[in-house]
Amino acid sequence: MTGFRSFLQNMFRKNRQKDSGRTVLPQESGEPSSSPTVEPPEASHTRKIVLMILIAAAVIAASASGLIGSYRPGPVQPIPFSHHLHATNKQISCLFCHATAPTSPHASIPSVDKCLLCHNVIATNFKPIRKIKDAYDTQKPIPWVRVATIPDHVHFSHQNHIARGVDCSRCHGDVKSMDRMTLVYKLDMNFCVQCHWQNKASTSCFTCHY
Ligand code: HEC
Ligand code: HEC
Ligand code: HEC
Ligand code: HEC
Ligand code: HEC
Repeated sequence: MTGFRSFLQNMFRKNRQKDSGRTVLPQESGEPSSSPTVEPPEASHTRKIVLMILIAAAVIAASASGLIGSYRPGPVQPIPFSHHLHATNKQISCLFCHATAPTSPHASIPSVDKCLLCHNVIATNFKPIRKIKDAYDTQKPIPWVRVATIPDHVHFSHQNHIARGVDCSRCHGDVKSMDRMTLVYKLDMNFCVQCHWQNKASTSCFTCHY
């Protein structure tokens, strides 16, 4: 954003220089005063406003599409697992893999056994799939890099939120469209408290800290 701010400042500085220069330029170069480069001050002002509106629109569009803001690709995972492929293309439900979300604090990451229910027969020669099989054979869990975390001193449970019908996407973003797991919302205190306040859920400190 600082880049954008200095860009705006530069624009104003340039325009100011141009405005002050405009009154002398035609005389210096000997151009007739009817030259098309000379505009009444109102016209340059209008153009400046139009330009600013265009820039503002571009910034809004960019931030809506995720180019600006917190939406960056998540960490590289040991296996290129795609939520988009599994949850959208193959229509596998979130709860098939994150089965404990409605009944316990943790949604949990599926174990390799679950992957192998399908990958014992699907795409078995593909290198990342062989890695899953190796993990199973050596009984070593896949070292997935965690993306959505809160500090240990904060109390959180999936169970009550799911029971109240809070959708996964409300806290984790549009996971279905992700080829790589990405943090969309920073899971900080402000994020939690804002929704609690809007939904008349408790905002007492002891709800989340004890
Ligand atoms: C109200 C917000 C919220 C909702 C709704 C929510 N989650 Fe979470 N989720 C979190 C937070 C916060 C964490 C981090 C928990 C931690 O670090 O202990 C998390 C962590 C996770 C994890 C990492 C493993 C774990 O259990 O800590 C998975 C997987 C997950 N969520 C999946 C889901 C799925 C699937 C749904 C929908 C069924 C869902 N979440 C709904 C906030 C939410
Ligand atoms: C319900 C069945 C099912 C389960 C469970 C499943 N997958 Fe898949 N997976 C598929 C299908 C179908 C494909 C597409 C295969 C193809 O296109 O040839 C696939 C493809 C993949 C690919 C290859 C993607 C690519 O780029 O072609 C990887 C890697 C993968 N799965 C990892 C996993 C992991 C890790 C798990 C466990 C967390 C898992 N899968 C669980 C059905 C499943
Ligand atoms: C086929 C199994 C499978 C399905 C279906 C699936 N997930 Fe996952 N999920 C995983 C695996 C494996 C990971 C760990 C690798 C990663 O982060 O990409 C994961 C990671 C996550 C995480 C990040 C946890 C963390 O802290 O790192 C969230 C959030 C999550 N899933 C939510 C969802 C939601 C929401 C859906 C449904 C739209 C869903 N998942 C469907 C297997 C699955
Ligand atoms: C999208 C809205 C939403 C967000 C975001 C949200 N909550 Fe909640 N939360 C609720 C609602 C609604 C309830 C009331 C559930 C009930 O009826 O018990 C609740 C209840 C709770 C409770 C009390 C019930 C329980 O689970 O023990 C805790 C603790 C809690 N939330 C922690 C958190 C934390 C920590 C975060 C941020 C990581 C968070 N919440 C984010 C909507 C939200
Ligand atoms: C709905 C849940 C929720 C409620 C209610 C809540 N907090 Fe928090 N609080 C959090 C979360 C989540 C974090 C972790 C924030 C982070 O990692 O940025 C946190 C962090 C903190 C921290 C540590 C800040 C840090 O930088 O690590 C303090 C201090 C704190 N909260 C005090 C309070 C006080 C005082 C209240 C009551 C006025 C309160 N909290 C109410 C969710 C909550």
